[in-house]
Amino acid sequence: MPKRVYIETYGCQMNEHDTERILRLLEEADYLETRDARDADFVLINTCSVREKPEHKVYSALGRYKWLKEGRGTVIGVAGCVAQQEGNKLLDRIPYLDMVIGTQAIPILPQLLQKVEVSGERVCEISLDQDGKYLKAVLPKKPLEEVKSYVTIMQGCDHFCSFCIVPYVRGREKSRPSKEIIEEVRHLAAGGVKEVCLLGQNVNSYGKGLEEEINFSQLLECINSIEGVERIRFTTSHPKDLSEELIQSFSKLKKLCEHMHLPFQSGSNKVLKAMHRGYTKESYIEKIDRLRERCPSIALTADVIVGFPGEEEQDFKATLDLMEKVQFDDLFSFKYSPRKGTRAAQLEDRVEEKVKQERLSILQEIQKHFTYRKNQASGGHVEEVLVEGRSKQDNQDVTGRTRSNKIVNFAGDLELVGKLVPVKITKGYPHSLRGEILSTHHPSTCNLRSAIHNQ
Ligand code: SAH
Ligand code: SF4
Ligand code: F3S
Repeated sequence: MPKRVYIETYGCQMNEHDTERILRLLEEADYLETRDARDADFVLINTCSVREKPEHKVYSALGRYKWLKEGRGTVIGVAGCVAQQEGNKLLDRIPYLDMVIGTQAIPILPQLLQKVEVSGERVCEISLDQDGKYLKAVLPKKPLEEVKSYVTIMQGCDHFCSFCIVPYVRGREKSRPSKEIIEEVRHLAAGGVKEVCLLGQNVNSYGKGLEEEINFSQLLECINSIEGVERIRFTTSHPKDLSEELIQSFSKLKKLCEHMHLPFQSGSNKVLKAMHRGYTKESYIEKIDRLRERCPSIALTADVIVGFPGEEEQDFKATLDLMEKVQFDDLFSFKYSPRKGTRAAQLEDRVEEKVKQERLSILQEIQKHFTYRKNQASGGHVEEVLVEGRSKQDNQDVTGRTRSNKIVNFAGDLELVGKLVPVKITKGYPHSLRGEILSTHHPSTCNLRSAIHNQ
């Protein structure tokens, strides 16, 4: 009988994708996924250490699973960025923990698990030099149920923004050969995947250090020509490395979706400098203007941090001013959280917690209005929607996303899953849109793209 694995995942899309990869690897080792930890033979917590809050989640999760170890001998493991950061310290601190699996050790996880099962030994593998093994494809063997999939195109980061732990826990930047990426995308498309999201901490600098001459825009062009792939997305981009060539790709490549996630972190040039971000508020806005010139319908989202050391009221105002000028479709906002070992953690002029919280609330309140207003303004438009499945709110409805990555719910049946359909938006809510499907047989919609572009 197959064994059962339960994985709890925190953090960014890279971690979500790592969890998918772990599940694929374990499936080959005769493990099936369970959604209930009580049934599991192996419980794995895939962790994030980008801020204090996600980091602490690992300890409460471990506390929750302690009784499973005691009651049924479940193997307990920690993977991801906290595992990488803490290593053996985690084993010392948590006596019932069996495995610590660093960010680049995923390909050897099944062997490590077997070692624990056979010998009862506790293992810790956090070496960051696995000869690029991490980047090797872990292809799904059975058809995927999902209509979209992540594809890793690079690992690590060389930027060392002063607040950020990622380069320390994910290692140096390394691109994956384009041939392997293309093979993986072909395999996914043949298995029914319609949308791929290319993953890397800084996809704009893709290609650096590879033997072949290729940059990110050229990689996009190759993927654009793969049959079966209908949509391409990518994340994350660094404003400093956003090239004119990539901006042009938005009007050139049909499958490239009109959405860009471009974290700005702060609108104050003083703070941006202290963060070592390598751009100014003005040059950031210039890039946004270029993107909108080339692709007027592009949706823009970003990350922003409040309360970085030395952030004064006027710096915070500059952040609000940038938001006002750009009017993002959505924003992910965070209170600065000092990370051990990063340069910013040594800065002394820390912003008080109360002030950070106030700034975060003000910023989120403003953004809420922008997001809602943009969603309302979509009313009456016809959007191409890739249907993903049943809506969680109403089982008469299906749910999907527009090319601009907005969630749309509308009445429809499950036969639509995996299809691109024209949907007329009838209402915009704070976090989603409501619509109604237009007949795909209607003469004006038989060619979906022209129906949408000619509206
Ligand atoms: N590679 C991405 C970001 C990865 S981390 C990029 O360069 O944009 C995701 C987000 O977490 C960052 O964009 C930043 O807004 C936030 N973040 C990172 N470190 C942080 C810290 N120490 N405190 C608060 N937020 C942080
Ligand atoms: Fe962190 Fe900066 Fe690298 Fe993004 S680019 S992962 S914020 S160091
Ligand atoms: Fe977190 Fe690691 Fe991603 S620190 S944000 S899970 S790269």
